[in-house]
Amino acid sequence: LAGIDAAKGEHAAPQAAPVAKTKLTILYATESGNSEALAGAAKRDAQKRGFAARTLDMADANIAALKDAGNLLVIAATWGEGEPPQRAAPFYRALMSNSAPKLDGLNFAVLSLGDSSYAQFCEIGKQIDARLEALGAARVAERVDCDLDYEAPAGSFIADILGKLTPPDDAGSVIHVDFHRTAGEAVSKSAPFTAEIAEHHPLTSSRSESETFHIEFDLTGSGLAYEPGDTLGIAPQNDPVLVESLLRAAGLDGDPESAAALTSERDITTLTAKLVQDYAGLTGDAKLAALADDDAARRDFLAGRQPIDLLEAFPHKLTGAQLKGLFRPLPPRYYSIASSQKSVGEAAHLAIAKVAYESAGRARLGVVSGMIAERRATGATVDVFVKPNPHFRLPADPHAPIVMIGAGTGIAPYRAFLQDREATGAAGKSWLIFGHRRFLHDFLYQLEIQDWLKSGVLDRIDLAFSRDQPEKRYVQHVLWDQRDALKARLAEGAVLYLCGDAKAMARDVDATLTRILGGDDAERGQAELDALISAGRYKKDVY
Ligand code: 2AM
Repeated sequence: LAGIDAAKGEHAAPQAAPVAKTKLTILYATESGNSEALAGAAKRDAQKRGFAARTLDMADANIAALKDAGNLLVIAATWGEGEPPQRAAPFYRALMSNSAPKLDGLNFAVLSLGDSSYAQFCEIGKQIDARLEALGAARVAERVDCDLDYEAPAGSFIADILGKLTPPDDAGSVIHVDFHRTAGEAVSKSAPFTAEIAEHHPLTSSRSESETFHIEFDLTGSGLAYEPGDTLGIAPQNDPVLVESLLRAAGLDGDPESAAALTSERDITTLTAKLVQDYAGLTGDAKLAALADDDAARRDFLAGRQPIDLLEAFPHKLTGAQLKGLFRPLPPRYYSIASSQKSVGEAAHLAIAKVAYESAGRARLGVVSGMIAERRATGATVDVFVKPNPHFRLPADPHAPIVMIGAGTGIAPYRAFLQDREATGAAGKSWLIFGHRRFLHDFLYQLEIQDWLKSGVLDRIDLAFSRDQPEKRYVQHVLWDQRDALKARLAEGAVLYLCGDAKAMARDVDATLTRILGGDDAERGQAELDALISAGRYKKDVY
């Protein structure tokens, strides 16, 4: 009523003494931006509910300063094999260390994001959750672990937490966290653009041991915009032959509804422990139940296998709903965009390496790379959307030197960077360190790179072709050999980039950079590398 009176210009009822707002810090650890987008949405919702809410990137956070945060909502992604997002690693190490301060008086809740196809599912969220409690903070809600389709569970968790922390007086106003409206990424993810393939040709020679394709998508009319460094999400269509095999194994051959669901909605290539357990329940097969319950035997069985192996080894008739219910939703795949819109306009280029291998006696294909390489020629269409990658961008200063380290398709975002720097005439020195298997067969974008070197867009390139000599030569060997030049570039304010394989390459490059920066003093090297990361001068896009 007071509000209505005030609106009429009459005297408002006397206001109650202002109450201090409930403080809330939303601390996020993000790799690809999902946790960051969730944190932003949670902050807006919390502010609507009257919280004094702020978001804090774990990359910029300091544990001691959290002591007085009052309420802490942690949104943490797990990356690779149970690792923290890279920029969050220094904070994470400090939190786990023996010197972490006590956090009595702090209320907390943890939301973790992960991928259930990894054994260490949501490991970082789990560790942080346990550690905060051990340091004396009070858990206000049980942790929730989200899989790749995190939007709905994350939304209800956040709404639930905010409800719990809202002072009783204000508890009446329930606002739903709407990520489809607030997180830009979700909008396009749930409503992708059907793009035509305008160009589709190999980047590798026919004698290469790997096959990589250059793909150009026509984005005309989509309104899609991206920056160099951003990624293109692709909504996959599963292999129709694999779909048919699964239907046959379940006694559902030719069922069009199941075929449609398995083709475009379900992840039919990831075999998780949960799937084995659920399937054992459906079949009632004693041998399978024993396998599902025995951790070691199940792990053995999962290795290199997919759901089709399970269904064919333990055949059982299922209903369409049972079959569909076995699989998790089909997640999109993300590729670093290899073009700049300043150069290509309404188009996006990708470099896609075909994943093809044999395991457990069967030939396997990557879901999207197999689709593109084998089943989508020029003129075919693919559903796509843009996912920003705000932590892998060119420096704002066009004069800043950059050093781009990449192996294999890790060249993709650098092609975008170089197209962009060429288009804007950015004067900063650009140094490319590229590695792949063989000079003759795998030098992706060779002609363009040589042209950029000639025209001065690139001021220097160094190459490492691993299989052209008896001893492996990798990008980290170039870094070590060129360490003086690298240190000189860093002294000039260079920003370092790393793109490509996350497991072996990123680890080995980090170790080499640590040695270059710290010499024999590993701790100093690590501290200097962490300082570069914190300063936004070492950026990684690894997968
Ligand atoms: P290899 O397969 O010949 O061993 C792109 O895949 C390139 O990255 C290839 O040349 C590959 O070499 C190389 N690569 C493999 N492991 C690597 C590592 N630990 N560090 C750097 N490059 C690596």
